[in-house]
Amino acid sequence: MQAPSLQGDCFAAVEQVLLHQAPAEKAHHSIGLYEQWLGMSAQEQQAALATQSASTVIKLEEAGRPDRPALVEAKLLSRRRMGSKEGRVALLHSLAHIEFNAINLALDAIYRFRDVPVAYVTDWLKVASDEGQHFLLVADRLKELGSYYGEHNAHDGLWEMARRTDHDILVRMALVPRILEARGLDVAPPMIEKLKAQGDHASADILQRIYTDEITHVEIGNRWFRHVCNERDLDGAAVFRDLLAGPSSAYLRSPFNDEARLQAGFTTEEMQIIRQMEAEYNKR
Ligand SMILES: [Fe+2]
Ligand SMILES: [Fe+2]
Repeated sequence: MQAPSLQGDCFAAVEQVLLHQAPAEKAHHSIGLYEQWLGMSAQEQQAALATQSASTVIKLEEAGRPDRPALVEAKLLSRRRMGSKEGRVALLHSLAHIEFNAINLALDAIYRFRDVPVAYVTDWLKVASDEGQHFLLVADRLKELGSYYGEHNAHDGLWEMARRTDHDILVRMALVPRILEARGLDVAPPMIEKLKAQGDHASADILQRIYTDEITHVEIGNRWFRHVCNERDLDGAAVFRDLLAGPSSAYLRSPFNDEARLQAGFTTEEMQIIRQMEAEYNKR
């Protein structure tokens, strides 16, 4: 099955994939959308940012997702100990869920915020395509280990952040790539080491590939966050601090991977703010 056509109305096509429920098909469509986009001329891409789109922006309580995994509270999920195959399956299952949600988050960044330059759409279609590839890699690895995406429960924390940031592109850029995705940069390297220590090099290689791509996703989020701040003549550091004074600082958890975060475009001042806001959150 082919991805829907982006010609003339990219938002309608993106909406269709965003609402698509079957995970592997959604992943393939996301990859297909980006390939299609790269094959379009600059004029065609500009024309695809249709002001009169067949798709209307609405609040999405849920993006398209399959019946399973069941979504439960994070604290009810079984803890992952990587010492056993079951532990590694649980880790990969939660990773598949993250990647599946990441496809939806990337597509939603286009579907929802439409007064944007072509380059914004290009960037987020690239992210959606990467996330689609990540999902397929992890889902295939789960199958090799005798499991599948949907076998275990998962939590709704990622889409919850999407709901909480759906009113403003500035807030979305500040919190989804720069908080949620950036957290992946902190946790991936130790996980990769543990997988290697278990002798699971196939899974470690997949995580390494994901880690490398995620640095570019955080960079894209940082870049568009700054773009919107500039457009609105706002001080990015101050905006970020204000946003983290709210419930979103609950997602901050040290230790932070400064090297990868600076590479992804965080400033040292922002890293200080992140540490400060984590400490303040822990005192609440
Ligand atoms: Fe990813
Ligand atoms: Fe990502």
